[in-house]
Amino acid sequence: MTRVFVLTNHKGGVGKSTSATTLALGLSGVLRKMGSANHRVLLIDTDSQCHATLVTTGRNDFVQDDSLYAVLMAPRDQAAAVMAKVIVESSWDPDLHVLPASPLLEGAERELMSVAGAPYRLADPLSYLAQHYAAIFIDTRPSFSLLTEMGLVAGTDAIVPVEPRYLETVGLMNVMQKIAEVREGWRVPHLRVSGIVVSKMDSRIKGHRYLLDELRGHEALGKLLCGVIPANEAVSYAHRQHQSIFHYDYHAPAGVAYLRLVGSLAQRCLQGSAR
Ligand SMILES: Nc1ncnc2c1ncn2[C@@H]1O[C@H](COP(=O)(O)OP(=O)(O)OP(=O)(O)O)[C@@H](O)[C@H]1O
Ligand SMILES: [Mg+2]
Repeated sequence: MTRVFVLTNHKGGVGKSTSATTLALGLSGVLRKMGSANHRVLLIDTDSQCHATLVTTGRNDFVQDDSLYAVLMAPRDQAAAVMAKVIVESSWDPDLHVLPASPLLEGAERELMSVAGAPYRLADPLSYLAQHYAAIFIDTRPSFSLLTEMGLVAGTDAIVPVEPRYLETVGLMNVMQKIAEVREGWRVPHLRVSGIVVSKMDSRIKGHRYLLDELRGHEALGKLLCGVIPANEAVSYAHRQHQSIFHYDYHAPAGVAYLRLVGSLAQRCLQGSAR
């Protein structure tokens, strides 16, 4: 079973898109280095802001017939074929493929709201294509919207990026609750929270250190902490040039921290469905 990592948090600007794109590219590279027969990775952008699409393809002009919008609107028996058609190679690496978002996704939510089975409109076609990929990453929007629900229904592993600030960590329990609701409500037993990533950590800031310690000491959340990514200006510079952090500066602290996390995700992918 291909692992489907869903980067999610209803808070904005916490590093969902940065983590989804960086981990997707990093994982493909690490699997290639490990000699894995299949190291192709798919990145699915479900956010109408199209940030993950923009940085990995250099484009944010995908429309109704060449983006995720086309997949969601296709007749059910044609959705997998449409998905295969709209997936593109990223400009970062030929083995990183992208299912692009479109600003039209904003309207798709409204159009699909009353359609029966709407939350499965991503998971169903993806189930036909997933076997071609070593792993899949889904970037979600900063809200618990229908599109985020679709991403979670298609997922196996939710990863929750969070900034080291008080309200962010309090909000984490809401995110956990929401994921549990999707698992129970839409009957997706294979979905679980597999990690919390603290992003933009500045260890010079006392409040950041305090929050990280608090998270580590938390009975439930502490066990889920799987990565700490330092605040690093190189990330923003790389984004501005539509480059990955690895390409922009291979030794940038944020990239090094992401690679550490990639190592543990690679192990999980090689284990397949074993938990
Ligand atoms: N480790 C980091 N250090 C410094 N800046 C970062 C880091 N990670 C992300 N950023 C910057 O923070 C901003 C938000 O990051 P990102 O877009 O990944 O968050 P997001 O959760 O996807 O946001 P949204 O909720 O709007 O989709 C971006 O400008 C990005 O360049
Ligand atoms: Mg984003």
